[in-house]
Amino acid sequence: MTTTATVSPAIDLSTRYLGLTLPHPFMPGASPMVDDMDMVRRLEDAGAAAIVMHSLFEEQIEMEQGRTLQDIESNVNAFAEASSFFPRPADFKLGPHEYLEQVLRIKEAVDVPVIASLNGVTATGWLDYAKLIEQAGANALELNVYFLATDPAEDGAAVERRTIDIVAAIKRAIRIPVAVKLSPYFSSMSHFAARLEAAGADGLVVFNRFYQPDIDIEELDVRNSLKLSDSDELLLRLNWLAVLSAQRKLDLAVTGGVHTPHDAVKAVMAGASAVQMVSALLKNGPQHLAQVRNWFAQFVEQLGYASLADMRGCMNLARCPDPAAFERGNYMRILQSWRG
Ligand SMILES: Cc1cc2nc3c(=O)[nH]c(=O)nc-3n(C[C@H](O)[C@H](O)[C@H](O)COP(=O)(O)O)c2cc1C
Repeated sequence: MTTTATVSPAIDLSTRYLGLTLPHPFMPGASPMVDDMDMVRRLEDAGAAAIVMHSLFEEQIEMEQGRTLQDIESNVNAFAEASSFFPRPADFKLGPHEYLEQVLRIKEAVDVPVIASLNGVTATGWLDYAKLIEQAGANALELNVYFLATDPAEDGAAVERRTIDIVAAIKRAIRIPVAVKLSPYFSSMSHFAARLEAAGADGLVVFNRFYQPDIDIEELDVRNSLKLSDSDELLLRLNWLAVLSAQRKLDLAVTGGVHTPHDAVKAVMAGASAVQMVSALLKNGPQHLAQVRNWFAQFVEQLGYASLADMRGCMNLARCPDPAAFERGNYMRILQSWRG
């Protein structure tokens, strides 16, 4: 097995993502790996096509701007009462200014594009940081609107409107491309994706993982633990990549459940232009990116494709032999196939 990043695959794996021409689609997804400059360099050495930074949160920016936790909670969640789950500023490795400094530092240290990440739920003043991130040199911005709709007075259209408003505000403020990292739980994903494209989104990152809290039945407490993903999580992403890539022009990145070269082949066949990995790199180290990329190149060649561009989307809703497999037909067939 070839493991070095320096092997250049015979096959053309180049891809366009967020206006960037990349030699191949593999990059680390948003994670704390970028807090460590040694790790950033190791990711570049492993051949990462871009570096995606972890998020800077709306709450962090608002606290820095002097707003109290109570103000922030009432803004982002009508049901928030206790503040024990809100991290304090000191809990974040990088504060807002340090985040900008880290963008600069990473830009100086690596030759590959840097994609920064903002994470929040309201189209308010904190979005000024998009401009500062652009000025710090980021090549693109990922926007993560991780929101749990728990307010019975807010309907689905209003929840979608939040994200649309944020995208529109950011697009007015900056010139670098913007990708939206989506949750899988919108009721009409295709319609929502069309509205995001119309609002100016250059790409979608499919999908956020939901970190559901567990219940400790003896302590009567809520338990949070971050479990890394496995390849099973990819299937939900494949389904929506296949649908959205047949319908939209904006770029699609996969995040969630890519661990092996096979996973990556499937994601590209479903329509992904970029392949993000986090859990696999946290488990196996940055060199795993080079291994997956090199095996991926061999598979693409063995499957008879001249380039990644030839393979991308070959199994999407428009081009796969049985489009019903991505729609209601699959649901019915799966239920009928059970043979206890
Ligand atoms: C420790 C950790 C920190 C993360 N931090 C962020 C973050 O700051 N912003 C974000 O959008 N996603 C964040 N994520 C989510 C990842 O970017 C990714 O979407 C998710 O882990 C699914 O991909 P995977 O299956 O390759 O791990 C984080 C994930 C992990 C494991």
